[in-house]
Amino acid sequence: MSQYSILKQKMLLKAFAGTISCFCLLTSSVFAQDIPIETNNSAMVLQVDKNKMIHVGYFGVRLKDPKEYGQFDNQLQQNGDPSGVANSAYSSSGSRNLFEPAISVIHADGNTSLALRYISSKVSKEADGVILTEVLLKDPVYDFNVRLFYKAYQNFDVVEQWAEMEHHEKGNVRLNKFASANLYWNRSNFWLKQYHGDWAREMQPEVTELTHGIKTLDSKLGTRADLFQPPIFVVGANRSPEEDFGEVMLGSIEWSGNYRIDLEVDNQNNLRIIAGVNNFADSYELAPDKSFTTPKFLYTLSENGTGAASRNLQAWARKYRILDGQGERLTLLNNWESTYFNFNEEKLKSLLEDTKNLGVDLFLLDDGWFGNKYPRNDDHAGLGDWQANKKKLPNGIEAVVQQADKVGTKFGIWLEPEMVNPKSELYEKHPDWVIKQPNRPEYYFRNQLVLDLSNPKVQDFVFNIVDSLFIKNPTLAYIKWDCNAVIYNAYSSYLTHQSELYIEYVRGLYKVLERIRAKYPKVPMMLCSGGGGRVDYAALQYFTEFWPSDNTDPLERVFLQWEYSYFYPAIATAAHVTNWGRQPLKYKVDVAMMGKLGFDIAVNKLKPEELSFCQSAIKLYDQIKDVIWHGDQYRLVSPWNHDFASIMYVAPEKTKAVIFNYLVSNRYAAGSTLPVKLKGLDPEKHYRIQEVNLYNGATSKLQLNAANRYSGAFLMQVGFNPVVNAGRTSVVLIASAID
Ligand code: DGJ
Repeated sequence: MSQYSILKQKMLLKAFAGTISCFCLLTSSVFAQDIPIETNNSAMVLQVDKNKMIHVGYFGVRLKDPKEYGQFDNQLQQNGDPSGVANSAYSSSGSRNLFEPAISVIHADGNTSLALRYISSKVSKEADGVILTEVLLKDPVYDFNVRLFYKAYQNFDVVEQWAEMEHHEKGNVRLNKFASANLYWNRSNFWLKQYHGDWAREMQPEVTELTHGIKTLDSKLGTRADLFQPPIFVVGANRSPEEDFGEVMLGSIEWSGNYRIDLEVDNQNNLRIIAGVNNFADSYELAPDKSFTTPKFLYTLSENGTGAASRNLQAWARKYRILDGQGERLTLLNNWESTYFNFNEEKLKSLLEDTKNLGVDLFLLDDGWFGNKYPRNDDHAGLGDWQANKKKLPNGIEAVVQQADKVGTKFGIWLEPEMVNPKSELYEKHPDWVIKQPNRPEYYFRNQLVLDLSNPKVQDFVFNIVDSLFIKNPTLAYIKWDCNAVIYNAYSSYLTHQSELYIEYVRGLYKVLERIRAKYPKVPMMLCSGGGGRVDYAALQYFTEFWPSDNTDPLERVFLQWEYSYFYPAIATAAHVTNWGRQPLKYKVDVAMMGKLGFDIAVNKLKPEELSFCQSAIKLYDQIKDVIWHGDQYRLVSPWNHDFASIMYVAPEKTKAVIFNYLVSNRYAAGSTLPVKLKGLDPEKHYRIQEVNLYNGATSKLQLNAANRYSGAFLMQVGFNPVVNAGRTSVVLIASAID
């Protein structure tokens, strides 16, 4: 044995001993064991073989007898894995694995191989129904270890998965890839539902059968990462995803920056899913004894189609993730589309009166209220200079807030705190706070640049923008947090390792949001990004709602909100009535009611009958919002392949349901020719059906039986016709249990 190997062996023994002592609390070290990650209805079973390699041995429905998981393997006749690691629970590169790795490193000595062996695992109960499984893996040659975490929210069939890396080598280890999750699924074939988009046409779905090789979903935009492709997807096993049957998985990365999700169908026809931060320009230098934690990957698995899966995900999100997900929301009047940048104190005072008159909870002042040397009169200047513009608001924001208090309405404000216009005092004072290549011409997206949130001074600046607004205006009740530019010319004059900028940007953003939430835990905040360019479940722990799209044409919104609903609940989905679209006002209001209702119209230009319709709609919304926000959602009739769409929300006790129906075709005789089968009701209860939100005095055309009494069984098995047609393009029904 060479001197070098002896020395290395000694080092390893020492490191190994260190690891064992660190993990003395863990249950461990029986090899050839199963580690089931179970929810009420699903299971992923990790299997440790006699060589201490760890595999995804089973992924599917939960079995009653966990001992039977191990028998799945015997039922396979797949002999195409000479490496023995194709189904690794965390594939590494540089040793036996020749498929896409979850992790790829360059060790301190320049070696590029990594092999991970099981050391130990522990299971702990985090809360009722929340079980955390932690698995420690270690390279037998290098003192490098990875901890895999699986958090199972059992009652919701949701699992969050992430990884943590740490080493004790002689110098930095470069992490070239460091995924959050590595799944492996044995089925005949797989169908992917993915989304693409752009401004005003977010969330366009595409469904394709996955072919052999890798399909990558990713973003490299840096900030508003989901503009072209959001970090969410559905996989249907053995068939294209269906609403009420079949095995499906809904997945998502909890990360507000560049992400990458690889779906690889391998030579054995199995699907490997590797998801995490996008490593295309993000390698990370990990110093000895420091750890790196990946973002979380989230999935839910269902035997009963996307309907059940999304209800689980929505309910999980309300309970565990979205800020105040089980609480209340404020209806609002926004001034963006009625004034754009053109307003002053007097105008705002009249808008406050309009807010009160309309009957919503809050007035939201949008872009254009700040900047003096470079006034924000259009989107070319002022961003970064967060002082009220003296010409428009001589008495500051304070005077408007005081007026709101006087009128008896709440007040909220728009910010875009991560951004700067080159035409701003901020840019003049702190050019080094801006992300831009030092030796290249600047390039703008909406005439602006992104501030370098990896820099703690910039984090302080952004925190202080929000903090000082609250200090000066303690009754400030809402923030709209916008983010319009992507990152071009990525370079930070603060960071040493440029390849860490995209990661440190997002971490910096989260640090600011943490500080804001520590001081202002409850204030509602809307996550906006020039429309829906940024929503994910990491960001939503700081935000109460998100802006799905600037496209508020209600016909478009039927499709957009339909697609968003696979992943996000109505309580978080802001929906405003605006001048977009040619549909009647009632249609617009009905569509916006399906989410978190707001208005962005000139109230003073509404005809008296329009105003009174909106006023009563808001009163109605007050009565049904509880069901929409906190109930279970059922997608009944898809707008993609029918003349109309039908969506239903059912209160948890099944005593009340709200059913929204919208015509989406103008073909001859388009409408609800057949009854719509309702879902989620109690078959034993009887319900009364009522049409609501009729336009001023219009009469309902529903065909009701004499007693207006229908069993839940009838409504679900036979259905009820909402009578949607060219004369009744949107119809809202309430089903109330009467006995
Ligand atoms: C983009 C947002 O999506 C809009 O609602 C509006 O706030 C503008 N920014 C303001 O510049």
